[in-house]
Amino acid sequence: MTRPPSSHHDTIRAVLWQGDHLRLLDQRLLPGAETFLDCRNASEVASAIRDLAVRGAPAIGIAAAWGVVLAAQQDPANIDAALVNLRAARPTAVNLAWALDRMKRAIAGGADAAALAREAQAIQDEDLAANRHMGELGAALLGHDVGVLTHCNTGSLATAGFGTALGVIRAGVDAGRIARVFVGETRPWLQGARLTMWELLRDGIAATLIADSAAAHLMKSGVVQWVVVGADRIAANGDTANKIGTYQLAISARHHRVKFMVVAPSSTVDLSTAQGADIEIELRSPDELFAYGGQRTVVDGASAWNPVFDVTPAELIDAIVTERGVVRQPNVERMAELFGSAR
Ligand code: MRU
Repeated sequence: MTRPPSSHHDTIRAVLWQGDHLRLLDQRLLPGAETFLDCRNASEVASAIRDLAVRGAPAIGIAAAWGVVLAAQQDPANIDAALVNLRAARPTAVNLAWALDRMKRAIAGGADAAALAREAQAIQDEDLAANRHMGELGAALLGHDVGVLTHCNTGSLATAGFGTALGVIRAGVDAGRIARVFVGETRPWLQGARLTMWELLRDGIAATLIADSAAAHLMKSGVVQWVVVGADRIAANGDTANKIGTYQLAISARHHRVKFMVVAPSSTVDLSTAQGADIEIELRSPDELFAYGGQRTVVDGASAWNPVFDVTPAELIDAIVTERGVVRQPNVERMAELFGSAR
């Protein structure tokens, strides 16, 4: 189902079901080229997730759900193998496992390929609706004439559309609450520089790029009142895994009395993970650190460590915004009030 955008600043859609294949706006090539990648089976969808052609926690869950539909259409006898392959594509964002579990329940309930397609579409539509609602809830917390700093890409590219943290920024700009938007470049994969800047400028939102290492200096200057970020997994106590660099932003924000907001749909909340220390952090190839724009920048023979997520402890978070409501100063009790507890 396509609905008209709720914001003037919302025109991008990156995950497009085509009836017999999945079309993805290839995020590896942005902003230089707007190229679509067609995935014609579940294994191609798994590769697209692993290789970051599609990325962002909600988007990889949605893509994986469509991967299950492709498996059901083409090779129903091997659907379990497709589920295992899709699940193994990336470890940290729980939305991937969440979406696959939901598809698995539909399969267990006897769903055929057509019914699975309806389920995948529901996952996608619900994500878009959640983002729009979170946009309103989060924007209402901001105050007026504020500056915000965001990290990574949490926008239409990372979700069904509108975005989580970037949805709050879209809604905040629409409501006239946000006066300044800063974007950290997000080394090493440059989601902020390559994707968020493209997305914001494309949708008519003025934004200023900073080097990740300029964040504390920016906060000290007083032009930023909120750091607004997304999440890949929120544990039962509110500890939040997100793109590497988020934790140091939260520490710096607390030091400078800048508020820190996490925005994520309830599909990112994982009550079966008690605390952040239990979250698996994806390690990617050191090669991502050795080159810039295809040009090697580090001496041959160097070694590197490349964790691509970190965990921000709940006590550094002022608000977790979900489509079910806002948890202020999150802890295990306040999280349980909104989400219940794991059985
Ligand atoms: O490695 P990525 O680009 O998939 O990491 C994405 C992030 O960390 C996002 O902040 C998170 O998934 C939220 S996206 C709405």
